[in-house]
Amino acid sequence: MFESLQAAQADAILGLIAEYRNDPRAEKIDLGVGVYRTVEGKTPVLDVVKRAEQMLVDQQESKAYIGTAGAADFNAAMQLLIFGDAGPEERLTTIQTPGGSGSLRVAAGMILRATPGASVWVSEPTWANHVPLLAGAGVPLKPYPYYDTKNHVIRIDEMLAALRSAPAGDLVLLHACCHNPSGLDLTVDEWQAVTDVLVERSLVPFIDMAYQGFVASLDRDAYPVRLMADSVSEMMVSSSCSKNFGLYRDRVGTLSLLAADSEARDIVGSQVNNLVRTIYSVPPDHGAAVVSLILRDDELRGAWIAELAAMRERLIEMRGLLGDALARKAPDHDFSHLARATGMFCFLGITAEQVAGLKKEFGVYMVDSSRINVAGITPDNVNYLADSIAATLQGG
Ligand code: LMR
Repeated sequence: MFESLQAAQADAILGLIAEYRNDPRAEKIDLGVGVYRTVEGKTPVLDVVKRAEQMLVDQQESKAYIGTAGAADFNAAMQLLIFGDAGPEERLTTIQTPGGSGSLRVAAGMILRATPGASVWVSEPTWANHVPLLAGAGVPLKPYPYYDTKNHVIRIDEMLAALRSAPAGDLVLLHACCHNPSGLDLTVDEWQAVTDVLVERSLVPFIDMAYQGFVASLDRDAYPVRLMADSVSEMMVSSSCSKNFGLYRDRVGTLSLLAADSEARDIVGSQVNNLVRTIYSVPPDHGAAVVSLILRDDELRGAWIAELAAMRERLIEMRGLLGDALARKAPDHDFSHLARATGMFCFLGITAEQVAGLKKEFGVYMVDSSRINVAGITPDNVNYLADSIAATLQGG
């Protein structure tokens, strides 16, 4: 049976983990996969997560199945985190999913059930796994312009024009904040303009929020979700706790579905639970139970918000350090867009050959598109990194 198969290509992002690990050079730098790192280059378990895990070990009485939707207390706490206390609760259903990717996969299944034939419009570029994940599930995709790779700005007019051309009923995949890979987000006015087009054209927002809390604050970062929830009759929101709780491998996320009214919400809820049963049956519990403990306890929640703020501040600081170092070491090149980006990522704006050269000559790893994860930068490696980039640019 397997004789017909050819080896699959290594994943554009995850493939870098092994490549980097196998590189023997001490000075190597990993700017590849999107995980947070401390100044020591570690991705530690958050202190508040450790505390909640201990509570869970002490208090948990059973590991029996909970159900296809996961834990009700987790779902309620996450719905509040995402939509705020003025959210349209009576029209919303939120289920626990295996990470953000699991959420996207269930969302794809719901699209195929509810509106087969509808396309999902995705930003050009978008997260490298959006396209294989959604297209692999059988959902037709169409691109909308987003990032101008030459001038490092958002192509807002072209984006709006493309969305105006979309047929009613299509979905539009939007990154709530920390656009992955560009790091450039829409302004408040641009979000309003996109919302107006979606309403005008009867398009359905499908929002991916994988970095809530990494731009400014939990509430500020959820602004586009809340704006759209106030304006449209139907939408879907995938969220992830991988980054903001550092629970990557525990696979914690949610899918929220907003329906036209509470009756439709109940039907959507029954369909999504039925769908989950046919994919992975029930979501993993541990990480979601930890998140639930943290979100429902004022003291733990405060400690989490402080740890999240420290991660955010470090990213902002490292982005600034690299920008300054490049301005000194590569003055003929404009890297000012780094300062305009948010979250973990931005494009360096160099060619795939230069990316390959950085890896080969200097042990600096990043995605072929020149997307960098600024969490890989430290005050100790930033000069080596900027020198390597400057030397690579000089080499042509
Ligand atoms: C990334 O974009 O690097 C992260 O979201 C990790 C992943 O799964 O690709």
